[in-house]
Amino acid sequence: MSLLQPTEPIEIMKQKAALRALECVRPGMKLGLGTGSTARYFVDGLGQKCADGLEVVCVPTSEATRAQAAELGIVMAELGALGRLDLTVDGADEMTRDLHLLKGGGGALLREKIVAAASDAMIVIADDTKLKDHLGAFALPVEVSKFAHDATAAALHGVFAQCGLSGAIALRGGETPFETDGGHFIYDCALGKIDAPHELASALVLVPGVVEHGLFLTYATGAVLAGADSLTELGDL
Ligand code: A5P
Repeated sequence: MSLLQPTEPIEIMKQKAALRALECVRPGMKLGLGTGSTARYFVDGLGQKCADGLEVVCVPTSEATRAQAAELGIVMAELGALGRLDLTVDGADEMTRDLHLLKGGGGALLREKIVAAASDAMIVIADDTKLKDHLGAFALPVEVSKFAHDATAAALHGVFAQCGLSGAIALRGGETPFETDGGHFIYDCALGKIDAPHELASALVLVPGVVEHGLFLTYATGAVLAGADSLTELGDL
């Protein structure tokens, strides 16, 4: 078994961040496995270590990650059977220096948040283009129930206005909507700079029909950001 061999500079950066986070994994840990192109390198490296004898038990945050982990022979269990996890390693679409995250570009935000919330630590891995002064340049994913999803989208406009925000709200996939692992739809909300993410997060969870949103404000405990010739660590690793 050998590691993925990326050739694109940005992919090499993602793998570099992932392999640094892999150094934080200890035998016997209960791990959350993130989703996305960066987390994929972490799962790949973990598979290699497990093949070499590392014993861990993992909870995947998507069916895609579950399939990758299964192919690599990584031991998995249901979150409910494990209780608290020691560590989750996941990517992000944007992050700030205070470890606020915007996630969900890959559509796995609901399971990612459930797993992050059950973890004692969360290390974010990313290329350093993801580090921003403010969240919001990336459209905020909001996962909604299929039932009356367009009415929920209309309600989102009201929430954004109440928070002093505005912008286009687009159903992911358009006429053939993207469906999440949980069978929901996603609206991508182009809000621009989000000045008060806690206020927005609190307002979004009150909207009936909103299943989850992509603001992860209280979960990350550390981060590894890889540049072409640099590796920046934030928080605790
Ligand atoms: C998945 O839903 C997302 O939250 C990903 O973690 C995020 O989009 C980062 O993905 P990449 O590593 O592919 O950029």
